[in-house]
Amino acid sequence: MHSITQEKEDLKGKRILLRLDLNVPIENGVVQNDFRIKKILPTIDFLREQDAKVIILAHIGREKTESLKPVYDYLKNIYPDLSFESNYLDSQGLNNDFVMLENLRQHDGEVANDENFVKQLASLGDVYVNEAFSNSHRKHASIVGIPTLVPSYSGILFEEEIKNLSDSFNPEKPSLFILGGNKMETKLLLIEKTLNIFDNVFVGGALANDFFKTKGFNIGRSVVSGKCCDLTNVIDRKNLILPVDVVTQNKEQKTPNEILDDDMILDAGSESVSHLKKLIQNSNFILMNGPLGDYLKGFDKSTQEIIQAMSESNAETVIGGGDTTLFAKEVEDKITFISTGGGAMLRFLMDETLPGIQVLQ
Ligand code: 3PG
Repeated sequence: MHSITQEKEDLKGKRILLRLDLNVPIENGVVQNDFRIKKILPTIDFLREQDAKVIILAHIGREKTESLKPVYDYLKNIYPDLSFESNYLDSQGLNNDFVMLENLRQHDGEVANDENFVKQLASLGDVYVNEAFSNSHRKHASIVGIPTLVPSYSGILFEEEIKNLSDSFNPEKPSLFILGGNKMETKLLLIEKTLNIFDNVFVGGALANDFFKTKGFNIGRSVVSGKCCDLTNVIDRKNLILPVDVVTQNKEQKTPNEILDDDMILDAGSESVSHLKKLIQNSNFILMNGPLGDYLKGFDKSTQEIIQAMSESNAETVIGGGDTTLFAKEVEDKITFISTGGGAMLRFLMDETLPGIQVLQ
C-alpha cells in the first residue's frame, strides 16, 4: 500500500478521485460535529499543493434523499473555489479543478458496487485516493471498486488510523481495553479476542447488562442485546471487569444484584469509575470504544470522567467510535489518537484489515 506522501510525483496535475468520509450529523442544514471534516483537511491541502485537480467523493446517511450540500457549505467557507456537482454521471467529464460530488448513495450502484457505476466514477479521474478509513469496512463502489481500475493510494489520515489502531494488536503492558455502547452481537468476538491480548478488559454500557442477565441478575427494564449471544466463554475470564455498581433512571446507585423490575440501568456507578481510574493510572496502553452510559438520556458522567482520566494519564491512549469521540472534544490534544472510525474501527480491531485496505494492497 502506498501513501500519497510517497507518491507526490504521480499526483502532479492529475485528476484525483479523493474518497472522504463526510458522513457527519446535520441538523437544519448545518453540520453539527466537524471532527471528521477537520481531520481530512490536511489531505485536501496536500493534494492541492501538488497542483492536483481534486474531485471529492463521499456519502451521507443511508437514505437516497440525503444531500451533502450542508457539508459542501461548510467546506466552501474554507475553500471558496470549491464547486458542487449533482449530475456528474450525465456530464462529459468535470470542468472544475476542485469539485465535490453529491452523495454517492443517491445511486444504487454505490452500495451494490455495480460495475458500470464503478467505471463511470473511475472515468472522472486519473488516480484514486482513499481517505475514508471509517467507511473502508464497506464493499462499496467508491471503496473497493474504483481502485481496481486506476492507480490508487492511501491518504494521510488513513495511514495514521492503521498505525495507531494496530498498536492494540500487541499493546504495551499493562494494557487496558474499555468497551461500551450496545449491540453485543457486533462486539462479542472482539471481547473474546481482546481478553486474550489485553491485561484488563472493562465492559460497560448496555453490553454489561447482557453479562448481568447471564449471571442471573434481574436487570429490570434495562437494554439488552436479546438472545444473540452466548457469553459462557467469556463471563468467567479473570481479566474481564464489569461495573460493580450502576446508576438507574432516578440517578440512584445500586449494585447489579439490587435492580428491581421497574429499574433501568443507565450508567456505571462511582465505585466502578474509581476502580477503572486506578486501572487507567496503572496502564501503559489504553484503548476505548463506546460510551459507558446512555448519554443521550443525560447519563454521561462515567464516560466524561473516564476520558478525562485517560487524558491525564501517561499511557498511549486510543479512542474511537462516533459517540465516544464527542466526549473527547475538550481533551483532544491530550489523547494519543482519536479514530474517526465507528463500525470500521471495530472491524479493523477484529480482522486487522478492512476491504478498503486489502484492495489498496
Ligand atoms: C460511519 O459513519 O461510520 C461511516 O461513514 C459508515 O457509514 P455507514 O454505516 O452508513 O456505512
